[in-house]
Amino acid sequence: AKDLRQLSQQLHIKIGSAVDIASLRDEPMYRKTLNREFNHVTAENAMKWESVEPERGVYTWDDADALVENARRNHQQIRGHTLLWHNQLPAWLTSGVEDGSIDATELREILRDHITTQVRRYKGKIRAWDVVNEVVEEDGSMRQSIWLTHLGPGYIADAFRWAHKADPHAKLFINDYNLEWNAPKIETTLNIVKDLKAERVPIHGIGFQGHLGIQYDYPGDWANVMQRFADLGLEVAVTELDVRMVLPVTPEKLATQADYYRRALTDCLSVRACRELTVWGFTDLHSWVPGWFDGEGAATLMDENYAPKPAYKALLSVK
Ligand code: XIL
Repeated sequence: AKDLRQLSQQLHIKIGSAVDIASLRDEPMYRKTLNREFNHVTAENAMKWESVEPERGVYTWDDADALVENARRNHQQIRGHTLLWHNQLPAWLTSGVEDGSIDATELREILRDHITTQVRRYKGKIRAWDVVNEVVEEDGSMRQSIWLTHLGPGYIADAFRWAHKADPHAKLFINDYNLEWNAPKIETTLNIVKDLKAERVPIHGIGFQGHLGIQYDYPGDWANVMQRFADLGLEVAVTELDVRMVLPVTPEKLATQADYYRRALTDCLSVRACRELTVWGFTDLHSWVPGWFDGEGAATLMDENYAPKPAYKALLSVK
């Protein structure tokens, strides 16, 4: 294949990237590369609650709209990210819950309105929604969050039902990290899905974020884990793949990184239900890794000058 779009067609799996809206707007090279390489996009931040409703009742859709419009013009499908999370919530919401001015009843209404408003706005334009993000802790317990504390565990089923009502054709996903290998998290998430299915809650997919690092072993059981979710009737997606390394970059590390990317793609290809692989950024010029992991970086497919790294070439060589 000559680029990722061609690879995507050959392999019959969508290949996507997270999109940083400021770069999309301001940087021709970013825009050109994104639109050349990818047929699926996810907003890195622009669809998160703090971005779309920074003040109560004041909606700021410009960035999210810009992503949707760019996607339409470039024939890219969209993953909506994300309707319910414990991070990047607007300050008015978290402080209102904390000081008691928003009680549980009102919080539930606020969540329902948020999901309904956002999903309706993009009805028919979003292929898949990350309805709930990171709702399980590393030890397999339910994530401690304002949602669990004030609404109880039923908030997950509610979120899926509200999203489905607002856009019955969108595929609704549960999304998480470390789900590639963390046994307690895997078992709890499987049980959540089974329970939702038993209650006939509209859930259609599982998202594996796929934030990997070469200083850790590749999650060798990942394909099996994907298959266990597929066996419950879910579509599988890799939603936020990146492979970070402890700096400095060396040729050896880049070779290992290339192998991790290649294996993530071949794992997805080995599971019939895995239909999408999305990377969390495509150039080291714009990646969340250096800002979040001390001393780490170089996690994406292209360097700071948009030159393809060995990882990019490794993906293209997959048959
Ligand atoms: C990250 C973004 O990349 C950063 O720009 C932002 O500051 C924090 O969030 N899991 C997710 C993503 O689901 O939304 C996160 O994105 C990365 C981890």
